[in-house]
Amino acid sequence: MNSPNKSLQKNAAIVAEALSEYIESSGTKQAPVIHQEKLEVLIERLGLEQHITEGDLSGEKLRAFVTDYLDATTRLHHPGFLAHQVAVPNLTGALGSWIDGSTNNAMAIYEMGPAASSIEYFMINWMLSKIGWTTVSSDRQLDPDSSHGGGVLTHGGSLANLTALLAARSARVPGFWKSGNPGNLVILVPEQSHYSMKRAAAILGLGEDNCLSLPADQDGRVLPAEMESQINELASRGKRVMAIVANACGTAAGLYDPLPEIAAICRQHNIWLHVDAAHGGGALVSAQLRHLLKGIELADSVVWDAHKMMCTPTVCAAVLVRDHRHLDHAFEQEASYLLHAKDQPGFDFISRTVECTKAGLGLRLFMTVAAMGESGLAAHVEGLVEQARSAAKLIQDRAGFEVAITPETNIVCFRLGDDDSQQLEIRRQLLEHGDYYISSTLYRNIRWLRLVFMNPLTSLDDIRQLLDDIEEIHSHLV
Ligand SMILES: Cc1ncc(COP(=O)(O)O)c(C=O)c1O
Repeated sequence: MNSPNKSLQKNAAIVAEALSEYIESSGTKQAPVIHQEKLEVLIERLGLEQHITEGDLSGEKLRAFVTDYLDATTRLHHPGFLAHQVAVPNLTGALGSWIDGSTNNAMAIYEMGPAASSIEYFMINWMLSKIGWTTVSSDRQLDPDSSHGGGVLTHGGSLANLTALLAARSARVPGFWKSGNPGNLVILVPEQSHYSMKRAAAILGLGEDNCLSLPADQDGRVLPAEMESQINELASRGKRVMAIVANACGTAAGLYDPLPEIAAICRQHNIWLHVDAAHGGGALVSAQLRHLLKGIELADSVVWDAHKMMCTPTVCAAVLVRDHRHLDHAFEQEASYLLHAKDQPGFDFISRTVECTKAGLGLRLFMTVAAMGESGLAAHVEGLVEQARSAAKLIQDRAGFEVAITPETNIVCFRLGDDDSQQLEIRRQLLEHGDYYISSTLYRNIRWLRLVFMNPLTSLDDIRQLLDDIEEIHSHLV
């Protein structure tokens, strides 16, 4: 029998070979970008029952399984992948996920993963500095007199948004944790905000009905000039605004809210400002695009997903606060087996997160940035935005097509004709053909087709072909 180490090397070589063929065949469009077979068919084809009964998934059995598995995946490495805000992962970063899985250092406490914790600490500081916030060495991290920034990596932007709003609740309504909801709290969010905001309001005990929309212009950007009267009107009804959320950028069309103006009103009313930069935070790494996030440093908290524009394998989201104390005090939990006096050569993230066992998410982010280099990463983000802007021009110039709004980031909303249900039918047929995988969204109460440029391999010729295909499908609908 092989030693575990020999098996690892043999099995890793099998997986590496299969993955390498998969990435090559995806990039060269030798297989559909999406092909959704029925769940029962896949359970059967992948031999799941047989594999768990037999055990010993290695060698040729492993090769067969991985080949079948890869065959049934949605191919993000395919140039036709234009659907969602999920990175085409950097493969060195993906090795970070593998190392993390193999070492299993549950690093929320330093002693359970010194290397992983140190890397998370370093990458959080890197992100804080991109925002323009103060970073410090670990020994001063919990200094109650120091108001430097802080943060933690969480399993996704939705959890990060919840955590940021929890920090807001703890900072602005300190008695809530013990005594519960005083009953008059609301949060104000952009009408284009991600659904995780409403969920967070419900989970935090505010109630979804107390997550209200901010005034917006016709494109859905927050209108700071009308915020003042909304806040005053709420106050006259005895309501208290716990937090205001701004998008940088919104999910549907990728628009950035005017952060300096929103921040000024929040400061004036002592309201917590949370900036959801889960998607658009990627622009912080680019000198050319940084202006889109002007004023972000005035926020109290920011969420920034690395697994969106930053090529990092899912998941890896950062919740960042201007003053670390707000996150450090957000959870008031006792856990005597973890939190007690001890020698502490590093930093425990556990008090900043919902999670107890936490993966070493920083490693995949660090290895991605280290593989690409900061300038390579900036060029990548700029390239995605450029792809979207060029595609929008191309679409706009085609007869019958309409682009919803000039893209500010890598998202393009467009449609052919003016029938909402036809847009959904076009998308359905595209996915069925399997050459393109695109999404669809409601924006300004209209149904649009939506392209999210995540793959540097997607060319303008791909978009031309996509438009031809859409015209062809549409011609049979009208
Ligand atoms: C603006 C925004 N915020 C939050 C999220 C949620 O992030 P995650 O999917 O990592 O939970 C998304 C996801 O698309 C988003 O676009």
